Amino acid sequence: MSFSGSGKIWMNGALVDWADARIHIASHVVHYGSGVFEGARCYDTPRGSACFRLDAHMRRLYDSSKIYRMEPQVDQGALTAAVLETIRANAFKACYIRPIIYRGYHALGVNPFPCPVDAAVLTWEWGAYLGQDALERGVDVRVASWARAAPNTFPTLAKTSANYANSQLIKMEAITEGYSEGIALDTFGYLSEGSGQNLFIVRDNMVYTPPLTASILPGITRASVITLARDLGFTVLEEMLPRELLYIADEAFFAGTAVEITPIRSVDKIAIGNGRRGPITEAIQQAFFDVINGETPDRHGWLTYVYPGQPLQATAAASAAKSV
Ligand SMILES: Cc1ncc(COP(=O)(O)O)c(C=O)c1O
Repeated sequence: MSFSGSGKIWMNGALVDWADARIHIASHVVHYGSGVFEGARCYDTPRGSACFRLDAHMRRLYDSSKIYRMEPQVDQGALTAAVLETIRANAFKACYIRPIIYRGYHALGVNPFPCPVDAAVLTWEWGAYLGQDALERGVDVRVASWARAAPNTFPTLAKTSANYANSQLIKMEAITEGYSEGIALDTFGYLSEGSGQNLFIVRDNMVYTPPLTASILPGITRASVITLARDLGFTVLEEMLPRELLYIADEAFFAGTAVEITPIRSVDKIAIGNGRRGPITEAIQQAFFDVINGETPDRHGWLTYVYPGQPLQATAAASAAKSV
């Protein structure tokens, strides 16, 4: 993925050209990772362009800023409106959405309080994160040598820029050694998550995923998968999982806005199941894609339509209530 370098970006209330969306090198966020952000997607559905669970993403963004004592100059409703405005300004049918709230330019002590809390919304066209092929055939991954942050160090319920230093280490290690992704353990040795996606395991028709206490980001896709899997009649358990459960799983898959639902076909060169996408992964993937492609009714109120004349926006309450 590289940027087209064109289009509009929303910055502190104004739409500016992509090339002009600049911040100063002395901005606090550049030095200390003092930003919180979101990654959401807008899909081109038969009923029009629709953001998937936008309210849940914006709620998590404001939760993240609250954890970091940031008081944005815009409230959640105004920034949500800015997301829709930015997509419309770029006339995108489908895109990736990146709102960010960050400590800006004022002083460079570690103390962030004197710095302004700025906000921006970027949108760009972005296809399948691990490749289209991966959605069908699955990916080869390793267990990372890097652990996720210990409890009470870097809060993982907050999607902060600082947490992605750890994600980068996991991702670089995986790529350097020929894998698509890494799965990190928490500091107690239990399964946690990938560098930018949550983890699911299937064994004996039961679906397992690590709990929020396993140093994971509370993924919106993860929450959606839990709902869809239960809708399909599967039992889903959120519990601490030992590493070796991966090796004896019937199926495993990643869930996240970027990877959507991507099967895992091997871990540490041990084939998962028969080494290809399993039937339960496929059923959940199908249910997920049917929602985001608008091919089934939006029963959970997950879609927010972008352009006037399209179906009414999903209610914030319906979507936000299911976000964690
Ligand atoms: C570390 C991490 N875990 C999980 C996820 C999946 O979260 P979501 O489904 O909300 O995109 C992401 C993606 O943002 C992530 O960066």
